Amino acid sequence: MEKFLPVVLAAGKGTRMKSRWPKVLHPLLGKPLLTYVLEALRHLSFPEIGVVIGYKAEEIQEIIKGSDIKFILQTEQLGTGHALLCATSFWERAENVLVLNGDVPLLESSTLQELMDVHQEQKAAISFLTAKAEDPTQYGIVLRNVQGQVVGIQEVTERSGRDSSSQEINAGIYCFKTSFLKKYLSFLQPNPKKGEYYITDLISIAAKNQEKIAIREAPFPEIIGINNRLELAKAAQILQQRILDRHMLQGVSIIDPSCTYIESDVEIDNDTVLAPGVYLQGRTKIGRECYIGSGTVVKDSKIGNEVEIKPYCVITESVIEDKATIGPFAHLRPGTYIATNARIGNFVEVKKSYVGKGSKASHLTYLGDAEIGKDVNIGAGTITCNYDGKRKHKTVIEDNAFIGSNTALVAPVKVGKAALVGAGSVITEDVPPDTLAIARARQVHKMKKRE
Ligand code: UD1
Ligand code: CA
Repeated sequence: MEKFLPVVLAAGKGTRMKSRWPKVLHPLLGKPLLTYVLEALRHLSFPEIGVVIGYKAEEIQEIIKGSDIKFILQTEQLGTGHALLCATSFWERAENVLVLNGDVPLLESSTLQELMDVHQEQKAAISFLTAKAEDPTQYGIVLRNVQGQVVGIQEVTERSGRDSSSQEINAGIYCFKTSFLKKYLSFLQPNPKKGEYYITDLISIAAKNQEKIAIREAPFPEIIGINNRLELAKAAQILQQRILDRHMLQGVSIIDPSCTYIESDVEIDNDTVLAPGVYLQGRTKIGRECYIGSGTVVKDSKIGNEVEIKPYCVITESVIEDKATIGPFAHLRPGTYIATNARIGNFVEVKKSYVGKGSKASHLTYLGDAEIGKDVNIGAGTITCNYDGKRKHKTVIEDNAFIGSNTALVAPVKVGKAALVGAGSVITEDVPPDTLAIARARQVHKMKKRE
């Protein structure tokens, strides 16, 4: 028998989010809320994680994946106590169950471990995490008798407004002996006001039946529960600060942390400098000694070493090799690969293209579905005409070619090695290597009419 199995309660709609999405799928620094709780649990290596879902269950199952996850359906959301009841066949295989609300993304696995340790040391029937909140209005508060013993939890619905006499709140994270649950879970009665079965009523049931209750205090920010978008933004701020601090301590210079945004899975190497207003998203990886200019957004991209990205670039699902220079105002769209020492300048858009070593597209250009060799020069205003209205076609430009300004390359088309294309050409046929191609009307001079 397992000593502990974890169950995450995530079936609620999250009414207070006022959203068509289930609360636990709302993104927090680029990842669904629920994944944070799952990550904390995964650090503790449970063989399986039970997740109770209900509202928009299919959407959650589609997004939250993992061979270690066992989804449990709560078809009607009759409260947190009912959610735990629905998961009985999952947790009854263990001696203890660790229960967590799905909306506590800042929770650390070490705090969970401490709770489990206290639970076992004190041989408690119930152990739960508490915290001291400055503003306890959104939380259940811990009730104690004159001897200071815990006698129950008073829910928000049971008190009016801000009349919380105590600052000691229930974090919504519990350990239960499964033998206790088997005996007492059926004692839960629906709340007279809300009609829901509250998991928190198990505390007073335990107290009345002289069952051992243990508590462990956690720092408040760690157990913040997200119920509305205000709390979501607050949690994002705290999490963001943690991430920024980690990067700075690991050797990344962040000129103004108050306006720099880095999502949780981003990796950055030493001596890279982030200017104010940088936003790094998804699985972005940045090498050492790079400079990322103001207003630049990078998502799911890999950037090498000593890359300079000037201000206001948007880079998505792209790869940039060492010592390349990008921007300002460049747009690298999915499937772009910029090789070492290449230069992409201002107002250049690149999509699904390879730009070879040392090649340059310095100004006002569109490169789509293109394969560009080494040391190619792409003149200002060059456009790959990759779309014929139905399909996309490829443009190939071989090493050392020189494309004059304002050239239109009508794909599919190939410009051979070291070929030269005259400015203003509309290239519709392949250009052989080492030739000069001019495809535009010849300049003529006519006498002006005398008036
Ligand atoms: C709960 C606690 C409160 C505690 C707070 C901590 C109860 C009755 N109250 O309140 O004491 O201070 O958390 O954040 O538990 N859920 C289900 N099925 C349901 C209802 C809810 O799975 O039928 C899930 C939700 O998806 C959510 C979690 O349970 O992840 C907690 O529900 P929520 O409505 O957020 O509870 P709180 O009002 O915050
Ligand atoms: Ca909550």
